[in-house]
Amino acid sequence: MLASAAERLLTHYDRHARALPWRSPPGSAPQDPYLVWLSEVMLQQTTVATVRPRFRRFIERWPTVEALAAAPDVEVLREWAGLGYYARARNLIACARQVAAIGGFPRTEAELRKLPGLGAYTAAAIAAIAFGERAVVIDTNVARVVARYHGLEQSLEQVRDEIRKLAKGMTPADRPGDFAQAMMDLGATICRPKSPECSACPLAGDCRAFASGDPGAFPAPKVKRVRPHRHGLAWWIERNGAIWLVRRPAKGMLGGMAALPGPEWGDEPTTMPAIASVSHGFTHFTLDLHIAARAETIGDGWWQPVDRIAEAGLPTLYRKAVEAVLARKEVLAA
Ligand code: ADE
Repeated sequence: MLASAAERLLTHYDRHARALPWRSPPGSAPQDPYLVWLSEVMLQQTTVATVRPRFRRFIERWPTVEALAAAPDVEVLREWAGLGYYARARNLIACARQVAAIGGFPRTEAELRKLPGLGAYTAAAIAAIAFGERAVVIDTNVARVVARYHGLEQSLEQVRDEIRKLAKGMTPADRPGDFAQAMMDLGATICRPKSPECSACPLAGDCRAFASGDPGAFPAPKVKRVRPHRHGLAWWIERNGAIWLVRRPAKGMLGGMAALPGPEWGDEPTTMPAIASVSHGFTHFTLDLHIAARAETIGDGWWQPVDRIAEAGLPTLYRKAVEAVLARKEVLAA
């Protein structure tokens, strides 16, 4: 008779847990909630390898939530540079200030969820890891482990509710924080998306995906959504070897970046005759940008010599647009 999945996993974790700077060793007292919170925020969309040194530097500089709450915004944003997704850093500051103001982190998943920037995953992770609550912690790695163990064949997006139910059933009342981190480690190191190493897995004995003989086929790949297309028009205004550039408004897409002038992007294709067109993929849509010639300048801007275009700091979309027009002109001149 096999021990429960949680028991086997925890026994495995006791021997193989990854030593990470935000973690307390398996079976020991829970980690400081500040360190758990900070690491979980940093680890959203950023790898363990990248986070490790950055986490160390951060907590050396601000060892407590009170210290972080007292730090100037610009210092925190500067320390965050390179970790991406800057909204996370702004939420981090807001959250630190709120926690410092109320005298410490709330101790339950439900209360944690009310803090700025704390989603379902982060609230559950802090509740389980720092406070020992039997919260159900599901990230992509954990979801894949659950789907394989229970033999769910559909894509993770199609079986979200079922995964939550099954993960809840697997989560033990004892050591829920170690269990959550053991699941994360298993997903990251053994139950990998491609070529899982089932010979090293403590759950293989009754894993449905393993029994099928092709565990890597579980779960089915994500159904790729076609990104919607949006349409934009940009003006090419050229005089004496220079083009007219403007700065985009501070808020919104490419906020504060240099750009070719043009109206706001919309859902309808433009009918203006174009001298060149480019497509650029953003996270949630693909933009088809048409570039049309125009004589008069428009908006507040500056003349940028074409042979010094690299110095303008154009984002990729507009760099592609300029290159497309220049390539077109070369063809016409040939
Ligand atoms: N990814 C997100 N949170 C993590 C944690 N606590 N340990 C390892 N990997 C993680």
